[in-house]
Amino acid sequence: MHEFKYKGNYLCCEDIKVLDLTKQFGTPLYVYSYHTLIDHFVKLKIAFQEVEPLICYSVKANSTLAILKALVDKGAGLDIVSGGELSRAMKVGCPAEKIVYASVGKTDREIEEAIRRRILFFNVESLPELENINRIARGLNKIVNVAIRINPDVEPKTHKFITTGKLTNKFGIDFNSAYKIFLIRNKFSHLNICGLHIHIGSQITESTPYVAAITKMAKFIAKLKRRGIDLEYLNIGGGLGIIYDKETPQTAQKFAQNALPILKKTKLKIILEPGRFIAGNAGILVTKVLYIKSTPKKKFVIVDAGMNDLLRPALYDAYHQILPARTDNRAPITEKVDIVGPICESADFFAKDRRLSCVEEGDYLAIMGAGAYGFSMSSNYNSRRRAEEVLVIKDKVFVIRKRETHTNLTRNEIIPSFLLGL
Ligand code: LLP
Repeated sequence: MHEFKYKGNYLCCEDIKVLDLTKQFGTPLYVYSYHTLIDHFVKLKIAFQEVEPLICYSVKANSTLAILKALVDKGAGLDIVSGGELSRAMKVGCPAEKIVYASVGKTDREIEEAIRRRILFFNVESLPELENINRIARGLNKIVNVAIRINPDVEPKTHKFITTGKLTNKFGIDFNSAYKIFLIRNKFSHLNICGLHIHIGSQITESTPYVAAITKMAKFIAKLKRRGIDLEYLNIGGGLGIIYDKETPQTAQKFAQNALPILKKTKLKIILEPGRFIAGNAGILVTKVLYIKSTPKKKFVIVDAGMNDLLRPALYDAYHQILPARTDNRAPITEKVDIVGPICESADFFAKDRRLSCVEEGDYLAIMGAGAYGFSMSSNYNSRRRAEEVLVIKDKVFVIRKRETHTNLTRNEIIPSFLLGL
């Protein structure tokens, strides 16, 4: 469910015509619906209310400050993976005791900063990392909370690039090694190993892989308990899939229905780290049709957004629905078209062999489901300025990130004096 709907011939975000936004802000333009964003957060919260989970929104999905602030104000915690994300979390006033920190490659500096800020805990992904956090904590004379990220070796049935819970993936620690860590936990004088974490992948549409992973976790928790090892937290990660195409993902309610009986038995405090589920359908990327080009083999709709703005189709061959900002009675295009950007790569496409109705040069198209891993994965490739972002709430619109300028792009660059003939 989302708040991007046609009213008459016009695609609207909440109560504003997308077409009006293009006139005001230009394109490429990210448009977010405040209510969709918050609704998804609340849906998950309600679905899991029996266990009163801490929902740590996964910052990587969309890390724009206004998006984070909107969620933090509603009580969300944050799941972070870098010093940069920690700094964003602090900027929007997220309470430190609601921040969890994953990543297989945390640097000393990042670890130190997160300890100083007193985050809730680190999700630790290897034994060397555990030793390192202990060493840094000792140096700072602090006892630090950590959760062990388990790699439960389950198949999440999603794209291989976003599968994270198989033993061939770099993430987490297998059960046996984790058990051994718990047995020598006293060696880590400055750590409080207080929880377990999993994140088995992203865009998971079925509950079976989750149930399998959580069941394995519950067994492991029971095994630890039998050895007198008590924990406080179980973090079940993110990964909930959304509708991009014809998927029929489990609803939050269904997911909760399947997971809750197992979670409740553990008697631990439950943490969730959803990213896409909250932000994915809350944003679209709006782009202008520059040219329509026919070749002997293909018809290309060339738009002003590129893979630098939205990388998902190029990287994962991801499907995004594409809708016209205005529909009217023009003849529908009957042949299939490729919708492509201006970048010098053949991977720079948004759709292949797609039937699109009503498209002419100068039209505007909305690439749907671009709220998560859209702007946050964007780049300046081809020296393109990153897009403007606006947030719509009912009939009001707010710029939440200005379009970059060419000066922005070169501001950190230095031409050495010898090249300047000095
Ligand atoms: N927790 C951890 C430890 C994660 O690594 C991730 C995502 C999440 C939570 C949030 O997952 P979500 O609920 O959003 O599925 N760029 C890819 C997705 C990469 C996901 C990386 N980790 C895409 O565009 O599909």
